[in-house]
Amino acid sequence: MTILVTGATGKTGRHVVRQLLAAGEEVRVLIRDPESAANAENADALSGVDVVRGDLSEPESLYAALDGVSSVFLFPVLDAIPAFAETAKRAGVRKAVLFTGAWAAGHTARDRASWVYPRYRAAEAALAENGPERWTVLRPAPFATNALWWAPGARADGVVRLPHPDAVCPVVHEADLAAAAVAALLDDGHHGKRYTVTGPAPVSQAEQVAAIARASGRPLRAERIDPEVWRAGAERFLRPGIVADLLNEWSQTEADPATALPVTSCVEDLTGRPARTFAHWAADHAADFS
Ligand SMILES: NC(=O)c1ccc[n+]([C@@H]2O[C@H](COP(=O)([O-])OP(=O)(O)OC[C@H]3O[C@@H](n4cnc5c(N)ncnc54)[C@H](OP(=O)(O)O)[C@@H]3O)[C@@H](O)[C@H]2O)c1
Repeated sequence: MTILVTGATGKTGRHVVRQLLAAGEEVRVLIRDPESAANAENADALSGVDVVRGDLSEPESLYAALDGVSSVFLFPVLDAIPAFAETAKRAGVRKAVLFTGAWAAGHTARDRASWVYPRYRAAEAALAENGPERWTVLRPAPFATNALWWAPGARADGVVRLPHPDAVCPVVHEADLAAAAVAALLDDGHHGKRYTVTGPAPVSQAEQVAAIARASGRPLRAERIDPEVWRAGAERFLRPGIVADLLNEWSQTEADPATALPVTSCVEDLTGRPARTFAHWAADHAADFS
């Protein structure tokens, strides 16, 4: 049976595709615009798979993509999850693995008051209540790949401008999130579970900058900037609610690291391998900063 991967051209989804193929699975990918996606950057995500056009926000575009599919890796286009869940169930899909975010676990009052918390929870509930018979939710910690936001500045003048350089978080490597998803897709023992997926240790943003400098060989330094300056720049590419959540999280975990997201053993529990460190991520992405 076929496994459908949505978000396959994304940073996490491309690892899901490669890992499923390596496990010998038949993979189909849902792509909004296959012609423009067919470029060198997406070659690893699109080779050896069945490519089908479709948009998660348009349920009627999903019938062909879901035909003959047993399981789905579900990318969090949050507003689209309720309709997708029903469409997938009607199409005979047996299992869906959705990722949302660690704040959905409501570990702190800050997380429960966040802009994304009710949105993540509503998407998770829609899948559990109206979707395929079997489901698993992965709640990843903030991604190590968020450090790619720093690459243009790092390359321009070697300075990474941060509102809260000492904010800490056990950021997760995208390949580990993908590996956890693949485990949940291939093993039926994870039905009905919600896993918080973190990296192996809390790491501050300034420590991340230092790790990238070591891995890339490029001298880099973190410089503290006014949070409002960061907000104005970030709101050009992130929703204001997310920007507010991030600033709140960073200011509080910088002031009190004990309020940071706790480390979990989910990566190792699901995959049998320890979670990758941020140093590992920096080595994998050194070329992005060179
Ligand atoms: N950054 C974090 O720290 C963090 C933490 C927890 C959760 N998250 C969640 O993770 C997501 C980002 O994940 P990522 O970095 O792996 O992805 P990404 O690199 O941003 O890629 C997004 C992928 O989703 C696809 N996509 C977007 N809208 C779609 C739609 N309507 N229908 C079908 N496909 C669609 C894109 O396809 P196209 O090729 O068509 O554009 C692309 O493959 C965010 O949405 C956020 O909710 C992020």
